Amino acid sequence: MAEPGTKGKVGIVGSGLVGKSWAMIFAGAGYEVVVYDIIPSQVSDALTSIQSQLTDLKKSGMLRGTLSPEEQFSLIKGCSNLQEAVTDAVYVQECVPEKLDLKAQVFKDIEQFVNDDTIMASSTSCITPSEFTGELKRRSQCLVAHPVNPPYYAPLVEVVPSEWTDPSFVERARKILEDVGQVPVCMKKELPGFVLNRVQYAIINECWRLVTSGVISAEDIDKVMWAGLGMRYAFIGPLEVMHLNAEGMENYIERYGPTIEQVSSTFGPNPSYSGAGLREVVQQLNSRSPLDQLEERRKWRDTRLAALAKLKQEQDKL
Ligand code: NAI
Repeated sequence: MAEPGTKGKVGIVGSGLVGKSWAMIFAGAGYEVVVYDIIPSQVSDALTSIQSQLTDLKKSGMLRGTLSPEEQFSLIKGCSNLQEAVTDAVYVQECVPEKLDLKAQVFKDIEQFVNDDTIMASSTSCITPSEFTGELKRRSQCLVAHPVNPPYYAPLVEVVPSEWTDPSFVERARKILEDVGQVPVCMKKELPGFVLNRVQYAIINECWRLVTSGVISAEDIDKVMWAGLGMRYAFIGPLEVMHLNAEGMENYIERYGPTIEQVSSTFGPNPSYSGAGLREVVQQLNSRSPLDQLEERRKWRDTRLAALAKLKQEQDKL
């Protein structure tokens, strides 16, 4: 790895859940990171939290990169003005709340201080880049880099350009994100929901239809994912599953294409997420995972996610 801090500066704007994760990811790869938040106490809280998270990650064997927790933490600075955070940055990652007007204003503010080659990336989960970059002078430098929660363990980043994003910025963003150990996928054009949520919503729609039409319980449909499809999807995607489950994709389609078309024709319209169907699903979920035990259940989930990330890391070394 290059000398710590020599890869360039990354500005993180917004130091909440996602901003903190990005700061750790960039510092783990040796970037100099400057974190800014509109609330100064958020920055100091974020630094305290990052310091203890880095120590815990080391203890659990999940710390990224080759630098010690102390070396990584020394690469992260906090600041209380935007200019200081983004001036001379090679890459800026915006992580402010999911509000269109706020994103538009923050990008307008950021663009005053960055260089001609600074990549300006937004963490937005569902706002397309053209919605908040259209009015900017530096709109060709802007794109979305949407992480998956928790970004430290789930490395996918959806890189989404608008029609005016310079393709060379997309390519450079991809290289930087790969360099920090994420797994970027680049969309060729923007679409609502990007890609992850479009796929996720297609799955949710069918799960919802099956439960609300009385075909299966909510508990059992979730098992279909974690005990079935999810097992292989943790390592290979659905298209490669098809390719491997026959003598290649063409052979798979010869064998199963007509069945896919026939079953798909019985899916029905998009379900309604209200009324009796909603009440039924809510009741099943609440009795299985009571609302006053969600925090416990989240911890259970995150421990397993971390263990899976570790396993994948070890497998990748084989
Ligand atoms: P958060 O609410 O935890 O943090 C947002 C931070 O931005 C706060 O510390 C707030 O003080 C700060 N902030 C507000 N206005 C600001 C401004 N004008 N300048 C600088 N800082 C400002 O939010 P979170 O969860 O970190 O989300 C940030 C972005 O990441 C959102 O767009 C969200 O959709 C996206 N995202 C969130 C994920 C999640 O699971 N939480 C996953 C993937 C993306």
